[in-house]
Amino acid sequence: MKTIKVMFLVSEADPLVKVGGLGDVGGSLPQTLRMLSPEMTGGDTLDARLVIPFHSALRKKITPTHLFDFEVPSKDGSLLAQAYQYDLNGVPTYLIGGGPFLDDGPIYNSDTNIDGVKFFFFSLAALGLAKKLEWQPDILHANDWHTALAVYALKLIQQTDPFFSGTRSILSVHNLPFMGAGTEAAFDFFNMPASQDPLLPWWAKKFPLPLAMQTADRIIAVSSTYAKEILTPDYGCGLETFLQSRHESVMGIVNGLDMSAWDPATDVNLPVNFSVTTLKKRVQNKQALAQEFSLNPDPSIPLLILISRMDQQKGVDLALESMNELAGQNWQAILLGTGDPRLEAACRALETTLPDRVRAAIRFDAKLSRRMYAGADVLLMPSRYEPCGLAQMMAMRYGCLPLARATGGLQDTIVDVSESPRNGTGFLFKPATTVAFSETLQRALDLFPDKKHWTAVQKNGMTQDFSWQKSALQYVQVYQELLG
Ligand code: GLC
Repeated sequence: MKTIKVMFLVSEADPLVKVGGLGDVGGSLPQTLRMLSPEMTGGDTLDARLVIPFHSALRKKITPTHLFDFEVPSKDGSLLAQAYQYDLNGVPTYLIGGGPFLDDGPIYNSDTNIDGVKFFFFSLAALGLAKKLEWQPDILHANDWHTALAVYALKLIQQTDPFFSGTRSILSVHNLPFMGAGTEAAFDFFNMPASQDPLLPWWAKKFPLPLAMQTADRIIAVSSTYAKEILTPDYGCGLETFLQSRHESVMGIVNGLDMSAWDPATDVNLPVNFSVTTLKKRVQNKQALAQEFSLNPDPSIPLLILISRMDQQKGVDLALESMNELAGQNWQAILLGTGDPRLEAACRALETTLPDRVRAAIRFDAKLSRRMYAGADVLLMPSRYEPCGLAQMMAMRYGCLPLARATGGLQDTIVDVSESPRNGTGFLFKPATTVAFSETLQRALDLFPDKKHWTAVQKNGMTQDFSWQKSALQYVQVYQELLG
């Protein structure tokens, strides 16, 4: 029996900081790893510890214990990093403050120069922290570009410093297009050399994410399909040839869902709780939702929802166009989210065109989203790419059928009803076109009156095992493999 020490670096961890899906992973994965018993892992226990930035927004929220200060070298002399400790739901959590984190600023800045310095400082300080603690991690597990530099710096440090000689590295990729472009100045500031790898495209030699992809022992995409997709020109963002050269180290592990936080039987935000065995009660949530939005509370009208960042990635435009196309049929829709002003305006425009049945709620409202999953019939999720995605899992768990594009994690978590009438959990379409979306929406509208089949599909979705435990065990297998 062994203890595997995992240093988990991430820029967000729910409930401390959450901007997007990455925060859910930061909040759930380290915690689940710690809870795995040796019986489940084949003998090992996991000492997973979280390292996150002490974002200025956090200073008002928590008062962690100050451990010590230490230096992070830069071109202009050393910067002072401050290490703090905090217990996040049982996970030993280190927060790195000082240096650029002393400035008040958002979690993510649109000025990539500022974020470059911030996150490079964080990544290098994380390695310094391990040394100060004399805690030799077996696994350095970084996530996305913000913490990727730690993986690259580890390789450089290992050439001279035996402290990290046993440490293996993993890079989880949650969103490939965000590679840390625009952080070149931070490379120079922290004396980081550009990559010499001839296989990396010239433009990527000073981007933190590709550099971590060059040196990581494993590159883990957040779903199996996304792991395959990033090896192709359509999704590889110009790194596909390079990634193909590393294909033996590229794999996918789908994210989980916090099954207890997302349970319609206990969710205090719902007008009426329900489960697979009391599914008949669900209709009361639909009626409450219709009333809340002044829609006709007739349960025989299918209620569609869109809950999304308003973003080109999410294919919101496809959904809106299709709804316009199928305006002749009887359905209702509630659109929730914020983002690109043009997409927000397009949502409002659809509401104006179809005032009897479309509502646009242009805001972020986590509680409303729960009432929507619990009351609506179909979740629209036409993402152009979706590394994993979480909303489709939440929807299924709450008896709302996802209608999604067959890409990334959507393809891996949803079973199409037409392809598998008995085991289906939702509707999938392939090309990112309005035609394909409309055809699939039509399939959903046609199935809706068949209550028996619809209910069976709902139950299939509600009983899926999306638990983090399943994903965490796959990560452990990778850790074990790397540690021989
Ligand atoms: C990013 C991806 C999303 C994924 C999340 C967590 O936000 O866009 O698909 O679920 O990261 O991995």
